[in-house]
Parts: sequence; C-alpha cells; structure tokens
Amino acid sequence: MLGFVLLVASFLAIDVAQADGRPHLNMIRPPGMPLMSDSQPLGPVTSRNGTVLPPFNQTYWFDQLIDHNNPSRGTFKQRFWHTWQFYEPGGPVLLMTPGEVNADGYADSYLSTKAISGQIAQQQNGSVVIIEHRFYGLSNPINDLKAESLKYHTIQQAIEDLEYFIKNVILPQPDGDRLTPDKAPWVLFGGSYSGALTSWTMVNKPDLFAAGYASSAVVEAILNFWRYFEPIREHMPANCSADVQVAISHIDEVFSGDNKTAIQEMKDLFGLGEMTHLDDVAGALRNNLWDWQSLQPTSQNSLFYEFCDALEVKDGVSASAEGWGLEHALQAWGNFWTEGGYLQRLCRNNSPEACLGTYDPNQPFYTDTSIDNNLRSWMWIVCNEVGYLQEGAPKGHPSLVTRLVQPPYDLRQCQLMFPEAFEKPPKVDIKGTNKAYKGWDVRIENIFFANGMRDPWREATMSAEGLDVKSTPEQPIGLGDGFHCSDLSTASGLADPTILAVQQAALASMKRWLADWKPSAAHDGARVPAPASGSGPKPEGRTKPAPRKPLSAWSKGAGVA
Ligand SMILES: *[C@@H]1O[C@H](CO)[C@@H](O)[C@H](O)[C@H]1NC(C)=O
Ligand SMILES: *[C@@H]1O[C@H](CO)[C@@H](O)[C@H](O)[C@H]1NC(C)=O
Ligand SMILES: *[C@@H]1O[C@H](CO)[C@@H](O)[C@H](O)[C@H]1NC(C)=O
Ligand SMILES: *[C@@H]1O[C@H](CO)[C@@H](O)[C@H](O)[C@H]1NC(C)=O
Ligand SMILES: *[C@@H]1O[C@H](CO)[C@@H](O)[C@H](O)[C@H]1NC(C)=O
Repeated sequence: MLGFVLLVASFLAIDVAQADGRPHLNMIRPPGMPLMSDSQPLGPVTSRNGTVLPPFNQTYWFDQLIDHNNPSRGTFKQRFWHTWQFYEPGGPVLLMTPGEVNADGYADSYLSTKAISGQIAQQQNGSVVIIEHRFYGLSNPINDLKAESLKYHTIQQAIEDLEYFIKNVILPQPDGDRLTPDKAPWVLFGGSYSGALTSWTMVNKPDLFAAGYASSAVVEAILNFWRYFEPIREHMPANCSADVQVAISHIDEVFSGDNKTAIQEMKDLFGLGEMTHLDDVAGALRNNLWDWQSLQPTSQNSLFYEFCDALEVKDGVSASAEGWGLEHALQAWGNFWTEGGYLQRLCRNNSPEACLGTYDPNQPFYTDTSIDNNLRSWMWIVCNEVGYLQEGAPKGHPSLVTRLVQPPYDLRQCQLMFPEAFEKPPKVDIKGTNKAYKGWDVRIENIFFANGMRDPWREATMSAEGLDVKSTPEQPIGLGDGFHCSDLSTASGLADPTILAVQQAALASMKRWLADWKPSAAHDGARVPAPASGSGPKPEGRTKPAPRKPLSAWSKGAGVA
C-alpha cells in the first residue's frame, strides 16, 4: 500500500491580502504555492541510522551572489532549510523554493512526507532542501525593494541562484561536501511560479538537474490572463456561476452608462459608495472569485463556498442550475459584502478607498519599499517579465469579472508602484520570457508536470485547454481533479484518487530517472563562476565565496552570519 507515514495535513490559504498589513486588494494575485497546515505536530525527527535531526524549521544561511553577471558585487545571505531524514549514501538531493513568498513555514510540510517531496525523498533515499527565493522574505540581495535594487530581481538571476547553490553549498549531512551535481543527482521541484521556475531552469541549464517535478507550473507567460477565471467558471456551482455572470454584466452596463443615481445606488449596494473610480469598484468584486484559489480537496469550509451559499440558498432552498436571476443575485451579493461582513474582512479598519482604490500614488502599497513584501516583489516580475493580469473576459465570452478591468488598469499600477523604472505603463516582455524559457514549447527530459482540472492557473500550464502537448515518458503531464498545486499535498492525494494517481505516476518516473543517473563530468557540476575578481585562468573545480566551514559552524537562526 502507501509506503509513507500518513499525516493529516491540509493546505492553508495564503492570506495574500492581509499578510503584511499593507492593503492591496485590487491588484493581480500571485500564483502562490500553498502552505500546508497540519493538525499533528511532528515529534523529533531521526535519520535512518538513528541520529536525532534538528527541527525542520531550523534556518541555515547560504552566501549567494548578489549579481551573477558581476560576482565581484559580493554576496548576500539566502535562507534555506534542510533534512536528511531519509538520506542514504548515493541518494539524491531534492531542492525547492516556495517562490514568491516569505518561505517561513514551508519547511514543516515540504521537508516531510506531508508533501510529495518527502515521499520522493523517502522512496529515493534523498535529502530535501527548501531555499527562499531572492527578494522574498529575508533573502534580499539589497535590503530594500526600490526599483534600483530590484534590477537584480529577474527570473534569470533566480535560475543562477539555484545553480550556484547546488554547486557550492555544503549541506549539514553525511556526504554534505560531496553533493555537487556531478557527484549526486539533484531533483528540482516546485509549485506555481516555482513550478514554472523548475521548467525554466531545466530549459536554461540543461544537464544540471537529474530530474524535475513541476506542480501547477505556469510555464507560459501571458499578458492578459483573463482565462484565470475560466476553470472557476466551469467548476463552481452552476447556479452561482450563472448569477455572478448576470450580476456582473448588469453592473458593467450601469457603470458604463450615465445615470448617476443608478451608479451611486450600485456602489452603495456593496458598501463602496465613497469610492471614486468605477473600475476599482467593479474590479474589487474579483475578490470573491480569487477566494477560489485557496480551495483544496481537503478544505473544510471556505470563503468561496460561503459566497455561493449566500447567493444561491434562499430560505433554505437552493437555486436550480440557472440561478435565481439578476435581482436576487445583486441583493444577495451586496448583502454578503455589507451585513455579511465580507468588506470588513477584506479591509478591516481601512476605508474602502484606501483598501480597494488604486489611483492614489501616495498609497503605502505603492510607496513602501521596505523588505518582506511579497506583493511588491512579485509585481516587479509581473510588470517586467510575466504579466498574468487577471481581467474580464473579451466581449462575447461569458465573464465572471468586470470588463472594465483590462490590461491598462494593471499596467498603470506598475507605473505607480515603480515610477523610477517606468515613465509610462510598461510593455511587459512576455515574448522574451517565452522565448528564453520556452513556455509551452518546453520539450526536455526527466521533468514531470502535475496539474489540476480546477486550478485557476491551469490555462498557463501544460494542461491548458486546447494545448496539444502529448504526455511522454520523458516529459509526463499528469492531470487530476485537483485545485492549485493539490498534487504537492499527501493529504490531497488521499482525499482524491485522481490526484493520488498523478502522485504515483510521478514517483514511478522519479524511480526510473534516478536509477539511470550516473555521476559524470557531463553533469556540469564542476564549472562554477568564480566569485573573486582575480586575474588568471578560472580554477577548475569548485570555488566558494567563503571558506568551507565544518558542520558545526552552520549558523542557526535569523541574523547570524
Ligand atoms: C521551530 O518550531 C518550534 C516548535 O513549533 C518553535 O518552538 C520554535 O520557536 C521554532 N523555531 C524557529 C527558528 O522558528
Ligand atoms: C535505499 O537504501 C536502501 C538501504 O541502503 C537500499 O536497500 C535501497 O536500494 C535504496 N533505494 C534506492 C532507490 O536507492
Ligand atoms: C549516522 O551517520 C552519520 C553520518 O555517517 C554519523 O555521523 C552518525 O554517527 C551515525 N549515527 C549513528 C547512530 O550511527
Ligand atoms: C436612473 O436610475 C434610477 C435608479 O435605478 C431610476 O430610478 C431612474 O429611472 C433612472 N433614470 C433614468 C433617466 O433612466
Ligand atoms: C446551487 O448552489 C448551492 C449553494 O452554493 C450548491 O450547493 C448547489 O450545488 C448549486 N446547485 C446547482 C445545480 O448549481
């Protein structure tokens, strides 16, 4: 049967909106790799030979290059977490970054068998490393998020980070100094943006990683990503979908007209009467749809279903698939925002304009450049390299979302947030991104793509509808009934057999690929960009920015160099 410890775990919604106290509820959502919560605390973890290991949340620091194009620029401290619970000599090292978030909390689940990573480690005798992505959390090349500093925040620098890390890190484990990618197989895995980064890295650095696992990987950069709402429209309760569409198209009609009384009444209905810009008002209603992103097969209750229940259940009776129609839908939706407390939950003590308005350049979420602000860091990537703007559908296509919100709405926010970088709304270089990292055209070996039917990000993945890419033994594409990154969770596999099937296919692929792996110079482990600026030929073999330290010198906790 299942060869791993069963632990009750479920995904925890990432509270993007309120995570850092800076209100910003009317801008694009990052894809976001889910954090898992668990109801059973883990006891002390021991290795296979009985060594008691540090707790999973033990923090380590790596000296990473600030600028891979100019190593003499020096290094910064990049956080990572690690376990060798299942490691046996010859086993692989699994590496994952949670991507565009502060990585605190990810180690507890992703180092363990609560996640597919732990299952792979257990099956393959591997160890696992979680590394924080540059410019998120406490891993910052420069200690602020000003546009000038963010010039080091590119997909390519993040890819180089991964290479430099695996060629130089000395892991606190047996063989820890003999795990360069020429000597030991490294497996890169990730979900969401970091799933895409897995694909992009393996395209960009052929032969560096022995294998990859990419969950809900948004491989294709897309500017106007209105299709974000398509899996939601197709998989949410039919009555709720019908009523939201009817309500939204009416709201758009009123807001596009010139009846000031009707416009004011509509704003008041949602408690947004004092707001100035109608696209902000209608765009704010996307929040109810964005709530879908935190759904998982293991979700007990969710804000999304609370919303649909509020619209569709009247006096204890549920509407048929057609819904109740415009009048009830509008009243019930408005009521959900006001008396139902949704607006209060979103904005807490902030005024609706401060919380949902996007036109004031002095709003803190535009001007605050202090670190550990994942939305600002992510917006930089959005505005420069990937897009993924979550807008209303084109005319003639059913839409859950206002058509008043179109790319210029978000690109204007790019300019307001980074005025030093953008004199006018930027032209996002999605063409360049898709050319460099191949997007949907990725055809490489030993990468497993795992996707979910109900994932709002599906339309940017290898399982986008209408995309005719075959799943092959070299590059399998597994599609289950899951939501966003559901296949990363062991509990989700246990809750849904289609997700379990994807996980088992991935485990089988890993077994096959890693059995074929051999140490070799061809694995390119030895070439490391020399960080020192000295002249003369580059030394062959590994070079390090700092002298090697014995295991005991690995510093613990934040702030210790
Ligand atoms: C690690 O987790 C334990 C138990 O939850 C907690 O007491 C400790 O403060 C955590 N340590 C760090 C560095 O977060
Ligand atoms: C894992 O280690 C055990 C014990 O050394 C060994 O029997 C087994 O073949 C190893 N598995 C893999 C996949 O290397
Ligand atoms: C387990 O293995 C490590 C590394 O080889 C070694 O340092 C340690 O002493 C071993 N522990 C036991 C209990 O054998
Ligand atoms: C404007 O809207 C109000 C409220 O819906 C309505 O009573 C009124 O008849 C409308 N006026 C016109 C000129 O359509
Ligand atoms: C109608 O909405 C309710 C409440 O969200 C839901 O439970 C039910 O499945 C929906 N029925 C149909 C036919 O869409």
